[in-house]
Amino acid sequence: MSRPMKVLGIDIGGSAIKGAPVDTSTGRLLAGRFKIETPLPLSPGEMADAAAMIAAHFRWRGPIGVGFPGVIHGRTILTSANLDKKFIGCDGVRLFGDATGRPVALTNDAAAAGLAEMTFGAGRNFGGKALMLTLGTGIGSVLFFRGALFPCELGHLQIDGRDAEKRVAASARHRKNLSWKQWGERLGRYIRTLEDILWPELIIIGGGVSAKHAKFFKYIKPRVKMVPAEFLNEAGIVGAALWAERERRR
Ligand code: BGC
Repeated sequence: MSRPMKVLGIDIGGSAIKGAPVDTSTGRLLAGRFKIETPLPLSPGEMADAAAMIAAHFRWRGPIGVGFPGVIHGRTILTSANLDKKFIGCDGVRLFGDATGRPVALTNDAAAAGLAEMTFGAGRNFGGKALMLTLGTGIGSVLFFRGALFPCELGHLQIDGRDAEKRVAASARHRKNLSWKQWGERLGRYIRTLEDILWPELIIIGGGVSAKHAKFFKYIKPRVKMVPAEFLNEAGIVGAALWAERERRR
């Protein structure tokens, strides 16, 4: 039997940073996740310190994968819609690598979550065009086709002159006190717009709210099969670890 490949996955979100060691050959967490709530926006240095606290918590000596909620080109963070704007332009690999003292691979948070779902979760064995959306503070998006991964920024599509995520993310339901029906119908219209442009063959809905899919899937009428994510809140952690493993093999 081959030894499990162990990578520390770290998922940076709008309200918390969390991590856990992952066996990348199975997608399983090797220990309970460690979470640091971030009710106030952290600066890049503070976020890097938080990542280092997670690594220290697990006495981590191996590689680390980090999922960040923004556009990543190479090593550079280009956008930061829901976190400190000082992240923009940062070399994220260096930022988190210097703080943790470990080799770091960096990717978009939704791309990470999608990778976990396509490898071990709701999209495993599916080779067609799949769209994964993560509904949380913002809306994350990624497309897959025949094993290739395309991080997207569909949460920033303009709807009635505003970013779609301001109206449709899970946070918008709370902020605007929408009923499941009101929010579900909004989400349905948004998903139909995405379908008209992208024509995915499978839609996977992730983010914490996907655990409550029975409350809102009924208001969405997609053309194709739509399924909840299987990893729920762990998708970002598992996927960040898978990304690091994938980068290591490249
Ligand atoms: C960011 C994306 C991110 C998504 C989910 C959006 O505001 O622009 O990069 O994937 O939020 O966190």
